Parts: sequence; structure tokens; C-alpha cells
Amino acid sequence: MPFTPHSDAPVGPVATELVPRLGLADTLRVALGVVAPTLAQGVIARRPRVVALAERLDLDGRAVATVQGLHRRHGNGPVRLAIPGRRVALVLGPDDVHAVLAGSPDPFALANREKRGALGQFQPHGVLASHGAARARRREVNERVLDTPHPVHRLAPSLVATVREEARAVARRAGSSGRLDWPTFSAGWRRTVRRVVLGDAAADDEALQGDLDALRSRANWSYLLPRDRTRRDRLRRRLAAHLERAEDGSLAGLLAATAGGDAEVDPVDQIPQWLFAFDPAGMAAIRALALLAVDPAERARVRADLTGADLDAPQELRRLRAAVLESVRLWPTTPMILRETTRDTEWGGACLPAGTAVAVYAPFFHRDGDTLGVADRFAPGLWLGDGPVGDARTTWPLVPFSEGPGVCPGQNLVLLATSTFLATLLEHHEHALAHPRRLDPAHLPGVISPFRVRFRTTAV
Ligand code: HEM
Repeated sequence: MPFTPHSDAPVGPVATELVPRLGLADTLRVALGVVAPTLAQGVIARRPRVVALAERLDLDGRAVATVQGLHRRHGNGPVRLAIPGRRVALVLGPDDVHAVLAGSPDPFALANREKRGALGQFQPHGVLASHGAARARRREVNERVLDTPHPVHRLAPSLVATVREEARAVARRAGSSGRLDWPTFSAGWRRTVRRVVLGDAAADDEALQGDLDALRSRANWSYLLPRDRTRRDRLRRRLAAHLERAEDGSLAGLLAATAGGDAEVDPVDQIPQWLFAFDPAGMAAIRALALLAVDPAERARVRADLTGADLDAPQELRRLRAAVLESVRLWPTTPMILRETTRDTEWGGACLPAGTAVAVYAPFFHRDGDTLGVADRFAPGLWLGDGPVGDARTTWPLVPFSEGPGVCPGQNLVLLATSTFLATLLEHHEHALAHPRRLDPAHLPGVISPFRVRFRTTAV
């Protein structure tokens, strides 16, 4: 049942009853079956060995089944978990997903305690860790630089050229070895990202990448680990130097022109999010390639779209974008969308006290076979508006990029970059899936480790 924020409520609870609390058994099921595997795989930086284990045991598939069980027993909720020391509510109703995300950042703040702890390790003033007036300014700058509403970014001419150049090098390497795997794919992808975000001079800045990776690994532990100030200061200095260089055609160049001297925005602190958020995009892209590899009909449609297209000209590659969107629907790279109530909030006649963490477990909504006929199927039509599945996302929450005022401002940019990268890989090569050995596009598993995906590559 949708919430009613009590904006004018002076003090105190808005309803006497609190939102219902789960019993101990159900709380343990959620803690061990949903929260623990999500945290263990690494929220800010994925841990490849744990992801491999999750793939073997289908931990995310089981987590979806756990939340489905709760939904069958408790209806649309919401429900609170019986966790000592922290108030946590789990969203179970589709309308509530829309309501919570529309109600961000107030009364549902994006910068909840755990996120502030994690992001504080390397970008304490990043927009996602911010609230209030500073957040509003930072969000505005992010949207301007990332060109949020536009499918084709205004820097697309240089951006597409960079993505194509790096992807061609990956395709060449894969073509000559006959093998495309994660190390080959991600080395090219990360070079692309450094060039797009910071400029060509940063293409080989592995030292900066190393510092960011190390800080992200610490961030997986949120506020449980102390800050590594030496490394963070070094990262800031390196980022500041790239920002000062303000290379033409890069996001850093745009940022310098948009918010160069704005102390409240802290432009340097906005950049790590862009660099690190491109990492899961690479994972989504290699999984999209795996999906296309096992769906000959969709692959043929993609190839038909690419035939005769001038890929050097910036454009919206709709089918490849849909494949990437399906990849993040099936395997969301932000599985747990977290908010925190800024004040007492009435929800279905009950009270959610201020300071309650509110969790939307996206894989449940994306893969709930009780409601979504295509839950475990590769269904790019969901994002293309064709066929009988076309309407599902207008009502049912498919939120790989979140939605509402906190929606990912980089969505269009990242879809442009990933679709161009994939188009270039497919341009002169065929990639047959070698691992996972069996992947049925009609019955997809809860987890595929991107680090283990491998293709046999041949020239076409
Ligand atoms: C597959 C790739 C990506 C996915 C699935 C994704 C998804 C998301 C999601 C779900 C959020 C909301 C997080 C929350 O509410 O806690 C978010 C926020 C954000 N994303 Fe992305 N993202 C991706 C890539 C990118 C890229 C490449 C950029 C920048 C170049 C970017 C910039 C941001 C920023 C700045 C925020 C914070 C927005 C705010 O606080 O208002 N994202 N993203």
C-alpha cells in the first residue's frame, strides 16, 4: 500500500501501529538467504570467487524464491525485519517500489547510513552520498555532464570513436586467439572508460585505477573499516590533475566547464562514481553478448540492424540497448536499492519511523515468475514495446537503473557506450558461448559470473 509522508507532522509517530515485523524465522531467511549473499558478492566491488560460488549454488535464484515466499505469505507488505540495532523495512508491493523511488530523496533519502559508510571511503561528497541542498546541486551537475535525458550524448562523436577504437582492438585480440574472455574484454573496456571519463591521456593510468579498486574493496565493508586517507588523498590528487587538464571530448572536460570552481559541488568527488559505475556496465555488456550468443533469432535481428549501418555515426542502437537492458533486468548490478526515511512516514495505516532503512530487492521484482510471464526468459521485447510483453514495464517495476528523482543519470550514456562496444565486437566476428556451457535463454539462472564468461571467436 503506498505511503503517505507526513511532511507537516510536527513531531512524534504519525500512526500508533508500526509496520508489521517479521518473525525470527522469516528474518533469518532474509538475512541469510538474501542479504548475506548480496553483501558477500561485493556491493561496491564484486568479489570474483564469491560470485563464482553464487553461480554454482544459484544463490540469487534462491534469494528470489525466498522473497517470493514472503510475498505469498505477507502480500504486498511492507514488512520490517527483526534486526537488533537497525530498523529495516523490505518492500514487497510493486506500487510501493514506485512510491518509494518517486519519494526520493524526501522522505526516502538515497544517502542512507550504509551507503554513506561505503561511499565515504572514496567519494564522501558524491551525489549518491549527499542529501539536501548540496545533493540538489550535485545532481544537477551530474545530469548536465552526463546529458541524462538524451539517448545520444552531446560528446557522442568523440565518445563513439573512442569506444569503437578500443572495441576493435579487443575484437582483433579475440579473433587472433580464437577466444574472448573477461580479462580481454575488461582490459579494453576499462581503457575505454578511462578515456571517455578522463581523456586519452588517462588511457594507461593504472595507478589511479589501482587506488580506486583498492578503495572500492574497502567500501564493500561500509563503515566497518576505517578510511584509508592516504590512498583517498592520492586518488583525489590524480583526479584533480585530470580535471585540470580538462581534455576536450572527455567528461572531465565537460565537468570542468560546467562546475569547475564550484566548492559546494566538489567536482572531483563526482568522478569516482562515473569510473566505478562503468565497471558493472562491462559486466552487463559481456552477459548481453552471452544472451545473444544463445538466442540465434535475436542475434539475427541485431545483425540485420547492423548491416549497412554506419557504426561510426553516433546513433541509438535500439536492439543492442535492449539486450543490455535485459542483461541488467535478469542480473541487476544494483540488486539492493536502499533508502532511509528522513521522518516518520505513514504506510498503509502503519508507521515507519524516521531512520528506517527501506530496501527494494530488485531481483525479486525482475524475476518474479508468479507475476511476470517472461521472468527467467531473455525477452528484449520488454524494452522495445513489441509483442505481448511490451506493456509489462509500464506497471510492473523493472528498475535496474532505479527510477524517479534518484534514477541513474548515466543510463543513456552507458547504453550508448555498451551498445557501441558490442556492435563493434559483432561487426566482423562471431562469438560462440564456451562458458557457461549450457545457457538456455528460456530458463536463465539467477547468477552468471561475468568473470567466467568465455566465447570462441571467429571472423565472419
Ligand atoms: C549498467 C550500468 C549502470 C547501472 C545498472 C546503474 C544503475 C544505477 C542505479 C540503480 C542507481 C541508483 C542507486 C541508488 O538509488 O542507490 C544509480 C545511480 C547513479 N548512477 Fe548509475 N548505473 C550504471 C552506470 C552508470 C554510469 C556509467 C554512470 C556515470 C557515467 C552512472 C552514474 C550514476 C550516478 C551519478 C548515480 C547517483 C544518482 C543520484 O544519487 O541521484 N551510472 N545507477
